[in-house]
Amino acid sequence: MKVIIQKDYDRMCQWAADHIIEAINSHKEERPFVLGLPTGSSPIGVYRKLVEANKAGKVTFKNVVTFNMDEYLGLPHEHDQSYWYFMHDNLFNHIDIPAENINILNGMTDDPEGECARYEEKIASYGGIDLFMGGSGVDGHIAFNEPYTSLNSRTGIRDLTEDTRIVNSRFFGNDPEKVPAQALSVGVGTVCDSREVLILINGHNKARALAHCVEGGVSSKWTISALQLHNNAVIACDEAACGELKVDTYRYFKDVYSREIL
Ligand code: GLP
Repeated sequence: MKVIIQKDYDRMCQWAADHIIEAINSHKEERPFVLGLPTGSSPIGVYRKLVEANKAGKVTFKNVVTFNMDEYLGLPHEHDQSYWYFMHDNLFNHIDIPAENINILNGMTDDPEGECARYEEKIASYGGIDLFMGGSGVDGHIAFNEPYTSLNSRTGIRDLTEDTRIVNSRFFGNDPEKVPAQALSVGVGTVCDSREVLILINGHNKARALAHCVEGGVSSKWTISALQLHNNAVIACDEAACGELKVDTYRYFKDVYSREIL
């Protein structure tokens, strides 16, 4: 696992955006580049930089196919907190990606299990995901894979914990009851099958999650820790998120992977 430590949120986003652009631009195969994408506040700055780069002609999404991580169950597309709405508002409406290349789990389906099985099949039909970008919950969840979700899990229905509903209630008028109790989500196994995983972890409130992800044992209590078993995983983080790392760990990653950006 690589940990890239950047000074602040803006630089973390710039590093992640540059990394994604480089991956897309160096993809020379005819088949599309398959990109997994997250929602949440962490990736917003990355999306802004990808939009800028697309408008400046530095990258095109014409041959990129996307799969989003998750979607709340029961929220229609037009709901401003649906992940469908979020993705179009923050990214898809501003870049040159063909609409048919966008894949987001349908939270309004009357067949959630079938929807999840079809999603896995569709990912497989493209030959898997080249690069999956993600974030982390304060409890170390990846996508909506809450603590104790199997590290081999596949796309399926997830119950959200009370903690996650409280954290996410900031987008729902601070009322946890308004946050849907369930979501559809790719599994930890789905993410880890990707050829590369890039996780954004920023801010003091993610410091425990980062420490468990990097230094803790691999455990379904912190589903993000599954990345330790991936042979091409990168964490992009800011200094604020490093607060709970051991000094040795911090120094190691600063020295080995962040030298060029000191
Ligand atoms: C939600 C999403 C996750 C995301 C997490 C953190 O729970 N399902 O994919 O990583 O929020 O969000 P934020 O980046 O806003 O802290």
